[in-house]
Amino acid sequence: MQKNLYLNQKLTKFINNENFKFDRSKILKIVNNDLLEDAFKTISRWQNYQPTPLENLNKLSKELNLKNIFYKDESKRFGLKSFKALGGAYAVEKMTKGKKDITVSTATAGNHGKSVAWGAKKLGLNCKIFISENVSETRAEEMRNLGAEVIRVKGNYENSLDVCKEKSKKNNWEIIQDVAWPDYELVPKLTMAGYSTMIKEISVQTNEYITHIFLQAGVGGMAAGLIAGVASYFKRVPKIIIVEPENANCVMQSIENNSLTSINIKKESIMGGMSCGEVSLVPWQILNNSVNSCVSVSDKFVAQTVAMLADKVLSDVSIVGGECSTPGVTSLISCCNNKETKSSLEINENSNILLIGCEGSADVELYQKLLSEGKRLI
Ligand SMILES: Cc1ncc(COP(=O)(O)O)c(C=O)c1O
Repeated sequence: MQKNLYLNQKLTKFINNENFKFDRSKILKIVNNDLLEDAFKTISRWQNYQPTPLENLNKLSKELNLKNIFYKDESKRFGLKSFKALGGAYAVEKMTKGKKDITVSTATAGNHGKSVAWGAKKLGLNCKIFISENVSETRAEEMRNLGAEVIRVKGNYENSLDVCKEKSKKNNWEIIQDVAWPDYELVPKLTMAGYSTMIKEISVQTNEYITHIFLQAGVGGMAAGLIAGVASYFKRVPKIIIVEPENANCVMQSIENNSLTSINIKKESIMGGMSCGEVSLVPWQILNNSVNSCVSVSDKFVAQTVAMLADKVLSDVSIVGGECSTPGVTSLISCCNNKETKSSLEINENSNILLIGCEGSADVELYQKLLSEGKRLI
């Protein structure tokens, strides 16, 4: 691999959490063990369930002189190509409780809606999905193919959520949303419990103790769900590092300010699922004390990392990692490129790093574009 490929990857910003205090019992009061266990039991009974592979980025760990770099490859999740399959579909099943005369609804940037549509289809339920102008037609078509009615709304994600809430109230539809608001906490907790399945699987896929986890965040649901999984399933608690796009670093800013901080996104990130301006309420209760550090990264490394994963530059196997899968890799490389950051995080030759490959080619057109762009760079 060309050395200069690594050397141009760097963080936009790094902070440590001054309020760090990992407290298993506090975390498991928010998303409790019963929920986590039920999520795994339910999901592992679904047809075609299989743990997603835990790949080893062996070429990268050799290059960076680390013990292991594990990569949880969610591109293989139920044919839906992202971890989101674990959340929305599980919440649909729990909230509809076997009833057949229910319509479920949601607002989405893409992958969550696909999970809800898939969950509804499995149970023979009607499904209405609200999307904003920013969601690609490729993604819309995939949700239609799963039987959902897709309704496009003017404006951004927040506008699509507002319309979803309004129409759902009027028509008595069951909203299956992955973000929380006052008096709406159960469904987001169910989606987070679904995501924790990744950690349950990892806990039996390796005997190594994970020392560091890089967790991508949009509204923080995936990160907090996985942290709940760590609190429940891991004997030793790794250092937890949150990864966000530089223009959408709402977790980082909230941690810096020690209070929920919304940001105005000036330019949407190409990492669409992570381009969020506000941390969701339930995840925030978990993230505020259990995260060691936060990093933010630029979009400019996305294409190159997509190509490095695909072209076996990082591992012996070829990996389909979509846009949101790349910033974990970039963050690790960037942390290792900076002596101070590396030593602050205590990353060294004994480190077992866990990266989350949260999506594959979920948006096929975008994936192909990034891949060919990236191949020209490596
Ligand atoms: C495809 C995709 N969507 C969304 C997210 C963000 O999840 P959340 O909004 O739960 O933080 C990620 C990863 O962080 C992702 O990979």
